[in-house]
Amino acid sequence: MIKTISWNEGAVVMIDQRVLPHEERYLTCRTYQDVIAAINTMAIRGAPAVGIAAAMGIALGALNSPEKKMKEDFYSICDEFSRTRPTAVNLFWAIDRMKSRFEKEIASTPSVKADAVKKALTEEALRILEDDIEANRQMGAHGKDLIQDGDTILTHCNAGALATGGYGTALGVIRAAHEEGKKLHILVDETRPLLQGARLTAWEMHREGIAATLITDSMAGSFMQRGMVNLVLVGADRIAANGDTANKIGTYSLAVLAKENRVPLYVAAPLATIDRRTRTGRGIPIEERGEDEVLRFYGTRIAPQGLHACNPAFDVTPNRYITAIITEKGIITKPFGRNIKDIFVGSAAYRQGARPKTSYKPE
Ligand code: MRU
Repeated sequence: MIKTISWNEGAVVMIDQRVLPHEERYLTCRTYQDVIAAINTMAIRGAPAVGIAAAMGIALGALNSPEKKMKEDFYSICDEFSRTRPTAVNLFWAIDRMKSRFEKEIASTPSVKADAVKKALTEEALRILEDDIEANRQMGAHGKDLIQDGDTILTHCNAGALATGGYGTALGVIRAAHEEGKKLHILVDETRPLLQGARLTAWEMHREGIAATLITDSMAGSFMQRGMVNLVLVGADRIAANGDTANKIGTYSLAVLAKENRVPLYVAAPLATIDRRTRTGRGIPIEERGEDEVLRFYGTRIAPQGLHACNPAFDVTPNRYITAIITEKGIITKPFGRNIKDIFVGSAAYRQGARPKTSYKPE
C-alpha cells in the first residue's frame, strides 16, 4: 500500500507529491513549521491527507513545546494550521478533534503532566490516520456495487491513497471494485493547473494494474457525448449540509456535462468532509492560489510576459448535478438535506442498509 504519511519517532514522514511520478521521494518533517510548509507547497494535498498532516503537525508542535508554554503554543499552532488551506473542511475537522482531545486531557486531572498530554495528542493524530484508512475501505465496500464489470469511469484530480491516509475515496471505490475482479477502464482527467490527475491518479492506477487512459480536461464532454463514460466518480473537499460539493476546479463543468449526457456522477467522501455548519455551497470559501501555477507549465512560462491569470483551486457543484454521495456509513441519495442529517444520527434506513438509486433520472 502507498504510504502517504506516517509518524516516525517524533517526525512526520510523507511522500513528496510535488515530484511524483518521476521520483518517489520522502520528506521528513521534524517541526510543525515543516508540516505547514509541506501543506502550503502541496508536498501533501487532498482533503483528508491535509487533515491528517495538520493533526500530526499539531502533535509534533506540542512534543517540541516547553512544558510552561504548552497550552499557549498549542492554540497558536492550531491557528497557524487553520490558515494553510481554506476549502477542505477536513483540515478544520482534524484541528477541532485535536483541540477536543487536548481539552479532555487537561480537564481529566488538575495535575495532568505535560508528557501525558503530548502522548495523548500523538495517539489522537494516529487514530485520525487509522480512522481515515478504515473509512476509505468502508466507502469502497459501499460504493463498489455502483460499478458494473466493464465500466469506464471518468475521474478528476486525485482522490486516491495519496489524497488520504491510504486507499482513497473515489479511487478507493475503484480499488474495491477492481479487487472484486471487475474489469474497469479509468479515464483520468489531467487536472490543470497542477496535474494531479496526470501525475498522481495515473501513477496510482498504473501501480495497481488498473487500465487507465489520460485525457485533457477539455476532452471529457466529448467522451461522454460519444457514450464512452458509464459514470463519473470524484472526491470532495467540502460538502455543505444540502449536498452542494466543493471539489477540484473543473468538477462543476464535468457535472453539468454528465447531466446533459445522462451519465451518473458520484461523490465519494468521508463524513468528515461534510460540513453541516455550512448550509449551501455559497458558504464554502474557495482557495485562490498564485497565478504562476497557471502561467507556467513545469516551470516554463507558457503565456506572454505581462499577462495575468486567475487560479481558483476549487469550484462548487450544486447538489442537483450529484447522483449520490458515497460515505463510510452508506450511500446518501436525494433529498440530500434530509438524508445527510439522517446519516449523522444513524437513521434506521441506513442501519438497515438502504440501497442506492443506481440509475440517473434527469430532473
Ligand atoms: O488542491 P488539492 O490537490 O488538495 O485538491 C484535492 C482535490 O480536490 C481532491 O479531489 C479532493 O481533496 C478529494 S481527496 C480524497
